[in-house]
Amino acid sequence: MDLGLRDARVLVTGGASNIGRGIVHGFAAEGCRIVLSDIDGDQAERVRSEALNSGAAAVELAIGDLTTEDEAERAVRRSVDLWGGLDVLVNNAGWSVPGFIAKNTDRANWQRTVEVNFYTAISATQAALTPMREQGHGSIVYIASESAFGQIRQGVYGATKAAVVALARTTAREHGRHGIRSNVVCPGLVVPDGPEAVGGSSLWAVGKDNVFNDDQAAYLLKDTPLGRLTTAEDIANATLWLSSDKAARQVTGQLFSVSGGYTMP
Ligand SMILES: NC(=O)c1ccc[n+]([C@@H]2O[C@H](COP(=O)([O-])OP(=O)(O)OC[C@H]3O[C@@H](n4cnc5c(N)ncnc54)[C@H](O)[C@@H]3O)[C@@H](O)[C@H]2O)c1
Repeated sequence: MDLGLRDARVLVTGGASNIGRGIVHGFAAEGCRIVLSDIDGDQAERVRSEALNSGAAAVELAIGDLTTEDEAERAVRRSVDLWGGLDVLVNNAGWSVPGFIAKNTDRANWQRTVEVNFYTAISATQAALTPMREQGHGSIVYIASESAFGQIRQGVYGATKAAVVALARTTAREHGRHGIRSNVVCPGLVVPDGPEAVGGSSLWAVGKDNVFNDDQAAYLLKDTPLGRLTTAEDIANATLWLSSDKAARQVTGQLFSVSGGYTMP
């Protein structure tokens, strides 16, 4: 099916590493115009070349820290100034360090977790709504997590992702009448598919085993009906579908687990 995304104007936050990189590749293959927003300029530059090689109509970089006040606005403005609007926002930027709730007592760590996962989604949403309302259409996809439903070692992080789900659904209710759809994808565990998928500010930069080791992955797979791990491409495919006003015209306020069935929300 043609998703009708050719030349669509797309902003992907945290688009330089792992899942965000996969999402950028997905939109690139559809021939979209993409603003890649990330704090990591070197890795973003690498993904920009990959995306142009995969068929993106254009790729612009907006490099900066999305937790600061004006950064999301600046990234949205890039698309509006260059291309006259914004059709799709993917709120993907995120960060986490797994830890049991009784032991995760470092307040600075909570604060950063809340800011990177939640503040960035609030500010990018608010920035995107203005052009989307003016043009009378738009799609926002939030990359949340299975931890939003309560998972071990994911207490504070999961709470930020539950907050993202509420933000997405409120956005859907308040802006449907302006033609704006808002949905959530909850990825299962997505391990980066190689060193080229990870920049220095990726949560995976500390080494895969320090985030999720093989024993933990095997344990998770026992409870996964499809018995395999999720890939960045799996998340990209779901995101593309939700971003398409043709394929997902009547879908808003919904949450999809893309995890091989690990959760069934
Ligand atoms: N990988 C998984 O298993 C998994 C599972 C469920 C949900 N998620 C969610 O998916 C999203 C992507 O995860 P990932 O594994 O690709 O993570 P990642 O750390 O590899 O990539 C996140 C990207 O966001 C960027 N970023 C971080 N803080 C930023 C900031 N303040 N301003 C701008 N950019 C910033 C990083 O530079 C990086 O490129 C996150 O929201 C994460 O919570 C991941």
